Amino acid sequence: MSESPIGIIGGSGLYSLLTDPEPVEVETPFGFPSERPQRGTFGGKDVVFLPRHGADHRLPPHRINYRANLWALRALGVRRVLAPSAVGGLLPELAPGSVVVPDQLIDRTWGRHHTVYDEVGPVVHVGFADPYCPTGRATALEVDAPSALTMVDGGTMVVIQGPRFSTRAESRRNAQDGGTVVGMTGAPEASIARELALCFTSLALVTDSDAGVDAATAVSHAAVLEAFAANVGHVGTLLASVVAALPDDADCSCRHALDGLTLPFELP
Ligand code: ADE
Repeated sequence: MSESPIGIIGGSGLYSLLTDPEPVEVETPFGFPSERPQRGTFGGKDVVFLPRHGADHRLPPHRINYRANLWALRALGVRRVLAPSAVGGLLPELAPGSVVVPDQLIDRTWGRHHTVYDEVGPVVHVGFADPYCPTGRATALEVDAPSALTMVDGGTMVVIQGPRFSTRAESRRNAQDGGTVVGMTGAPEASIARELALCFTSLALVTDSDAGVDAATAVSHAAVLEAFAANVGHVGTLLASVVAALPDDADCSCRHALDGLTLPFELP
């Protein structure tokens, strides 16, 4: 059996990746994804790339159609998703260029369409105690990362609503609650991926120290983009290595997320 394509959801500053991209038209029960996904080769494998903010970065985090994005990837045969994103560090030792591979998540977003199981019918509750794919995490941490990046094994991703950054008090609270990094797009992306039984691995590139990490200078959008631009090439190199090494592990626990549940509709 041939390997399923790997999905990569590009974040701020990462709008294209593939060498031979072919745009694919795909509509979902939730509307259109942020952009037409591009299919091509990357890291020696078949990859579907989708920029979550759109290719022109027009979509703020709370307006991203996370359901359509994940559904579209699944409809294109994707079963494993890598999700790089820019985040602020909540610990003083996390310098820009650190890549946290989180193992936990705190969702502080609100008002976003956060579930594909939204209709009256058989109710679906998926397990989410361990929000990220164990195989994807292990692979990301095993590959030889570019020396400019410092890989960090584990941590809690706090997802805020945005689009504004946190106050110093919010940032302190996020750190006190056990947060390692803070971003705006990691939820409901990760939980919708689980609802669709997709393996989902977050690669959180630290671009700044968030407001509360005793930083005299609070984070700005320009600083985030600058730090991401400085590292985007390295992130691309890292992603290529992870794609090349990622096993097509059909028995990964994420793929069994829906076992035994009665679904109100068939997944693509
Ligand atoms: N993305 C990059 N830096 C961030 C921060 N400090 N807070 C939220 N999202 C971010």
